[in-house]
Amino acid sequence: MKSKFYPKSFPWNALQLLGAVRPGAICCPEELLSQYKPFFWNDLASEYDAERLYQYLESLKLNFSDAFQAAVQLWRSDEFNHYLGFRRLYHLLYAESEDSITQRLDARPTNFAELSEIVRDEFELCLLLAYDEIATARGYRKDFALYTACGIESFNRWIRLVARDEAFHYHNFIRVVRTVHQHRLAEAAEVVERILCYDLTAKEYKATFVLDHKTKQFSEVFFVNCAKALMRSLGQTPA
Ligand SMILES: [Fe+2]
Ligand SMILES: [Fe+2]
Repeated sequence: MKSKFYPKSFPWNALQLLGAVRPGAICCPEELLSQYKPFFWNDLASEYDAERLYQYLESLKLNFSDAFQAAVQLWRSDEFNHYLGFRRLYHLLYAESEDSITQRLDARPTNFAELSEIVRDEFELCLLLAYDEIATARGYRKDFALYTACGIESFNRWIRLVARDEAFHYHNFIRVVRTVHQHRLAEAAEVVERILCYDLTAKEYKATFVLDHKTKQFSEVFFVNCAKALMRSLGQTPA
């Protein structure tokens, strides 16, 4: 009998959590806020771009496995929840209306051409998504202190819930690899190396959700360590 794949998840509602926060209650220093403004925007934009990536995946008309589809559906709804939360947060911190934020996000061009050269099938897509999710999860964890500095308990809870979701996404895509693509594990080192190389050298984020780390927030070592952790999770020796 075929066993069903259940991705790990913990449903919650970002707008319910952040809905009661009023801008006057935020006590984060102005200097810190303006320093982090591009990083907040980057996080918000990449969460928004999950839907663009989803539409791109749909357009590929690949014969995705049931396990991959289950992981992706859950990922899609979590990322949309994150987008709504980040949009509210950005509105609260920078006094821009949510409509204006959405318009600016919509106006950015997307380009998936390079992505289609880096990953070509479900196995490689899982590795790309896993790599991206572990980098995002670790990145958000580094931001915990910043959210604490805002002095709002629900901001604290927010970033911890988001980081937990990203860690779940990571583990879910790893599980898809280990259950559906076990026979291709020996190829993982080469694919992960290719993804890492692209991430370290690409100059510009193309609004593709993945490989959105073009800010100066993280070092090269940070990404190398993410790739190594991914290989260890697959039971493989890092390159
Ligand atoms: Fe997210
Ligand atoms: Fe995620």
